[in-house]
Amino acid sequence: MTKAPRILGIGHYVPEKVLTNADLEKFVDTSDEWITSRTGIKERRVAAEGEAVSDMALVASRRALESAGMTADDLTHIILCTLTPDFFCPPAACILEEKLGVRGKAAFDLNAACSGFVNGIETGRAFLSLHEDAKVLVVAAESLTSRTNWKDRTTCVLFGDGAGAVILGNAPLEGAKHDAAIQDVELKSDGAFGHLLTVGGGSAAPAKLGEIVDERHFIQMNGPEVFKVAVRSMESVCREVLERNSLTADDIDFFIPHQANYRILDAVARKLGLPAEKVCVTVDRYGNSSASSIIIALSEAVHDGRIKPGCRVLLGVFGGGFTWGSAILQF
Ligand code: UT7
Repeated sequence: MTKAPRILGIGHYVPEKVLTNADLEKFVDTSDEWITSRTGIKERRVAAEGEAVSDMALVASRRALESAGMTADDLTHIILCTLTPDFFCPPAACILEEKLGVRGKAAFDLNAACSGFVNGIETGRAFLSLHEDAKVLVVAAESLTSRTNWKDRTTCVLFGDGAGAVILGNAPLEGAKHDAAIQDVELKSDGAFGHLLTVGGGSAAPAKLGEIVDERHFIQMNGPEVFKVAVRSMESVCREVLERNSLTADDIDFFIPHQANYRILDAVARKLGLPAEKVCVTVDRYGNSSASSIIIALSEAVHDGRIKPGCRVLLGVFGGGFTWGSAILQF
């Protein structure tokens, strides 16, 4: 185990409540057949009434700390990647800090939409290069269903809730259960596409006191346009990090793409020459949980033993902004 920015612990959490395609058929003009054939989604998780992003982040963070054999006191930084924070203010990261029972850390939210987690680990790496002894909690948590327009069948069938977390540090822990070097990260964005995927309610069109909020406050997406750019962008950024590290598809043991749609992740994997057995899929069970989707998939595969020491993992993300990126992890 060489000294390099690394993952020292990993955990995830999904809410108990399951919303199946059959459940959706009861109140939306849709069908299990349409959703399954167009997206691969069979069901998704929905946060309980009053269960906020910081609550889901708390469970995932505790599990990551436990897997690292650490306590929240050991942390120096808390980065919460989300586009659905508890409030505009205070930052959900500070609420999480309080719920973890600690004070005085550096804590802030990071919003890079569905690409948040990879932006989070790159930001974490920056802290690690500045502070030799830093221990950075990077947690991605989303409550997309709190911003879902249940009357819009083109979006409401797609999203789900959940959280995943990693602890980053500079040196491997003695007897670590889960250890991965962050070999490389690449981040991209292009604001020209921003209008194709939006969740409003911010300063550009704020809610007015006493007014009923309209559909702009909820997720709105031009699905087919997003689809095309998502495939193109994820493929090219994954190719870029592979080439920069003199790697080919044969050197990758597992590919974990953003879980937006099975057709998207399958298309990207095929273009990269990665066979289906190397691709981690959770979209069928959890839908698109935005920033938390790849960290939930990564954590599942680590904890169920598919990803073992020696495995090299390629991550690929894409989301609103547009934002996209890729990372290589060496377990
Ligand atoms: O996480 C951020 C990134 N997000 C993504 O990457 C999502 C990207 N986009 C997609 O995954 C897909 O574009 C969707 C799943 C959103 C849509 O699939 P599509 O194959 O692109 O379908 P479409 O939007 O072209 O719609 C085809 C038809 C339309 O009917 P007409 O106009 O052909 O009569 C839609 O009205 O399917 C209809 N439709 C539905 N029918 C039943 C749209 N949504 C539904 C629905 N149930 N839920």
